[in-house]
Amino acid sequence: MTHVLSAVAWPYANGPRHIGHVAGFGVPSDVFSRYMRMTGHDVLMVSGTDEHGTPILVAADQAGVPAKELADRYNAVIVQDLVDLGLSYDLFTRTTTGNHYRVAQELFHQNWLNGYMIEQTMQSAISPSTGRTLPDRYIEGTCPICKFPEARGDQCDNCGNQLDPIDLIDPRSKINGETPEFVETQHFFLDLPALAGALGEWLDGREATGLWRPNVIKFSQNILKDIKPRAMTRDIDWGIPVPIDGWQEQPTKRLYVWFDAVIGYLSASIEWARRSDDPEAWRQWWNDPAAESFYFMGKDNITFHSQIWPAELLGYAGLGDRGGEPGEYGVLNLPTEVVSSEFLTMESKQLSSSRGHVILVQDMLSRYQPDALRYFICAAGPETSDSDFTWAEFVQRTNSELVAGWGNLVNRTATMIAKNVGAIPACGDLEPVDEAVLTAVRDGFASVGELIEGTGSGRDRRGDADRRRGQQVPHRHRALQDEGRLAAGSARDRAARRRPVRGRLQHAALAVPPALRQRRVAGAGR
Ligand code: MF3
Ligand code: ZN
Repeated sequence: MTHVLSAVAWPYANGPRHIGHVAGFGVPSDVFSRYMRMTGHDVLMVSGTDEHGTPILVAADQAGVPAKELADRYNAVIVQDLVDLGLSYDLFTRTTTGNHYRVAQELFHQNWLNGYMIEQTMQSAISPSTGRTLPDRYIEGTCPICKFPEARGDQCDNCGNQLDPIDLIDPRSKINGETPEFVETQHFFLDLPALAGALGEWLDGREATGLWRPNVIKFSQNILKDIKPRAMTRDIDWGIPVPIDGWQEQPTKRLYVWFDAVIGYLSASIEWARRSDDPEAWRQWWNDPAAESFYFMGKDNITFHSQIWPAELLGYAGLGDRGGEPGEYGVLNLPTEVVSSEFLTMESKQLSSSRGHVILVQDMLSRYQPDALRYFICAAGPETSDSDFTWAEFVQRTNSELVAGWGNLVNRTATMIAKNVGAIPACGDLEPVDEAVLTAVRDGFASVGELIEGTGSGRDRRGDADRRRGQQVPHRHRALQDEGRLAAGSARDRAARRRPVRGRLQHAALAVPPALRQRRVAGAGR
């Protein structure tokens, strides 16, 4: 039994979810989590709505409501989307809880104490006509790297790179189209170059497992080459105050939304534990190096999960070039795997809420059962390459694979039993033909299970556990273990991890079926 953190990307609370969103993070993480629970692992599946930053502000401006009101509205809408799809989160919370503010500030503060948050000036965009600051999604322009015309101040959704607003070609304000002016402002930067060595070592170890999807590991290693400090604060009045004297009091300096959002995985685990009867229980997923963590998202999120988040964790623990000490949460586990999906298109065109080329989860569910959509995403989703949703394929897969194939098998068997026996008959002596069917079923479960455990990389994870664990953390982290500051996995734990898949499946028969487990998708946190 392993502690498995299923860390699911936090949707922005800026609109209802469409099928592309849930194909990217929702259904894959749910299938993975349910399977891992069935095989006897201790799964903690957490997420929530991402409620800060310009994604929320831009939508609030358009709707003419305050940011908080917009976030409240779409938190409720998104929770309903996810509940109706049957996603089995242990906790679905929000980034506007007091708990999240505390945890995010603790991570910032310790990174600062350890010397990984450095104060620097940068060129920020402002509107010449109104004097308003135009961070992140308030400006668009052409990506200096891939030439995509709708790149944003902080990121290009096309090539996935993080950007500096000053580097955008032909920048324009999202509010009124004017060309912004650039002025010098003071910000805190995460000193990524001081963490690059530790990040590279971690990524090399991850690559050696062969478990990450090839696109994800290649992209992550590539962006290490041109690593620079990144601003983790913004000139904005919506977000988490910067927990440093002289900054805390300023109403227009806030943490960058991506700095706080990725911390949600940790803060939600802490909130989940506090709501349970053991407030320290989260540590089993975060401090024990034998625990594993899988992060599910669309590909535009990779850079934040394979660079920013591990850098925050390494800086927090003092594991970069500047050294330092861990804060109150101790040395926290880096991701075992960043599981990123490619994009889902619809009838060959990019899904887009703003352009109305979209199918909302609720529209789909008003006509079809969630399993039809879940099945389509599993069978034809954008796992390792972009994939296309067409109504023709959806109808064909539902009617011929789900209804005719699976539905008829179940229905005919159940009807025959009802007519001839009236109840599920007791199992008699098994004949060779029965054994053959059972073997085929078990083999199917095992081979599909291996693919799920390999999160779609199609590789066999058996035998990898010990090697992976050794390579998960950079050397300095391992040195801490040797000093006894971190408990290594118990012998029993190691034995369990070496057990072949077949053995674990027997265990599965005893596991509580996921449907019976308490499901908690909470709207508001405390
Ligand atoms: N809100 C982001 C998006 O929709 C995802 C954030 S994932 C997080 O692209 F964990 F970092 F919050
Ligand atoms: Zn680009």
